[in-house]
Amino acid sequence: MRTFKEFQHHIDLHRERVVKLGLALAKTHFPALNLKTLESFLWLHDHSKTLTNYQSLKKYEYNHSLFPAERLFEFYGRTPKTNEETLQLIDVVNDINAIDEEVCVEFFKLHADLSWGIQDAFYTVEKVADLVDRSLDPMAAEEFGHPMILASEFVQDPYMATLSIWLETHYHQITKDLSFSNPLCYKLAE
Ligand SMILES: [Fe+2]
Repeated sequence: MRTFKEFQHHIDLHRERVVKLGLALAKTHFPALNLKTLESFLWLHDHSKTLTNYQSLKKYEYNHSLFPAERLFEFYGRTPKTNEETLQLIDVVNDINAIDEEVCVEFFKLHADLSWGIQDAFYTVEKVADLVDRSLDPMAAEEFGHPMILASEFVQDPYMATLSIWLETHYHQITKDLSFSNPLCYKLAE
């Protein structure tokens, strides 16, 4: 992946897969959840990385000259080399997490009828879908600059590990009609 535009496309595809994976997981493991509400929550996944105008970012007290995704793209495909770079990456990740946490808080304010238990289930579904996609997306190893460990081996929580195993087993079936970033497509399009 060479351009920021390609990186944005890669983020969009990841977000779409998280929605599909999360819904599939909920249908089988969380039958009491309202799928429509869950779907609108899942579409907010990695929202911070889609923000490319200062007006929307101002709302989150974000005041860096580059957009969050632009700062992340600087580390695409490599791990930080110096202490300064490590701090820079931590800073970007903290900013991204702060925005996404706020986005979730806003969502649950709008859906004040959802109990803590339901909110917790929403977070679990999102987290497992995100981790499983990150570990099985063929582009992830390139993005992070190192081979990926399966989510089910990475997560500490035994319940989340069980959910991850189920999702990993069904991953290819659930994502079969969805796109993945493919550097070849970009080459052909040029
Ligand atoms: Fe994600």
